[in-house]
Amino acid sequence: MARILDGAAFAAAIKQEVAAEVGELAARGVRPGLAAVLVGHVAASEIYVRSKVQACAELGLYSDLITPPADVSTADLLALVDELNARDDIDGILIQLPLPPHIDSKRLLEAIDPAKDVDGFHPVNAGRLLAGRPALVPCTPAGVIEILKRSQIPIAGQHAVVVGRSDIVGKPVAILLLHENATVTICHSKTRDLPAITKQADILIAAIGSPGFITPEMITSGATLIDVGINRLSTREEFDRFFKGDAKREAAFAKRGSVIVGDIDPRAFELSGAYTPVPGGVGLLTIAMLMSNTVRAAKLRGGL
Ligand code: GUN
Repeated sequence: MARILDGAAFAAAIKQEVAAEVGELAARGVRPGLAAVLVGHVAASEIYVRSKVQACAELGLYSDLITPPADVSTADLLALVDELNARDDIDGILIQLPLPPHIDSKRLLEAIDPAKDVDGFHPVNAGRLLAGRPALVPCTPAGVIEILKRSQIPIAGQHAVVVGRSDIVGKPVAILLLHENATVTICHSKTRDLPAITKQADILIAAIGSPGFITPEMITSGATLIDVGINRLSTREEFDRFFKGDAKREAAFAKRGSVIVGDIDPRAFELSGAYTPVPGGVGLLTIAMLMSNTVRAAKLRGGL
């Protein structure tokens, strides 16, 4: 039987540790603060950002939710970032992605003070990560490592195959795995004979953004499967491709008109040694790690 790596349990444990740190900081008169910038009205982003703000409230962090309209200019957002960089009550600045296409996202992310870059997207933090001197590490990749370590799944010497090469997940998670002494292969859309490589994986990280992309034929039984994808299925045809005959999901689909699937075909989970479910896996760790990064930023900024 495949072991389920329960994201909710790991996230709860990390949040408890962060809450304890927040308590210690409060005794010294420090309250970590997060500014969350949510541009426009993208439904998924609204849900994510509200969860992040809610987590701050739960753990005793200060938060400020800023919601510029969808037609805001890059110049106005740059001015906002300057203002947040200068505010002493703000330790972390999070600009929810994706931004509208007219915004120069790279320029904006580079304008954030690296000391307040709790997403770890600034080139200074990306460079520190690469150099093995990490300060603020991107939240989802950090969450993946937490899941593996807290599950006592060995990383050193294992072949970790990362499918996807995004700046947000694929590249940083590959570097983190390398620092843990895994043998790392990064695959992407131009990789030749992908299944021949994914079959070699002791640990497979799927971060592609394509529903059920990794099929059972692409893995070796007993592998650890980490599914970073969150894809919404809203047609009957899509639903039937993965979940035909699944009574529980059928009820959810009837109620909400959609269900979520990761980048790994759920049938592959049955062959695995251990796997992160979707939902209920890696996604929950992302928020916990953001809280952890915000506390870390507050400590680093305060010289604590
Ligand atoms: N959009 C999807 N994932 C993320 C994330 O980790 N941080 C931000 N800022 N935006 C995202």
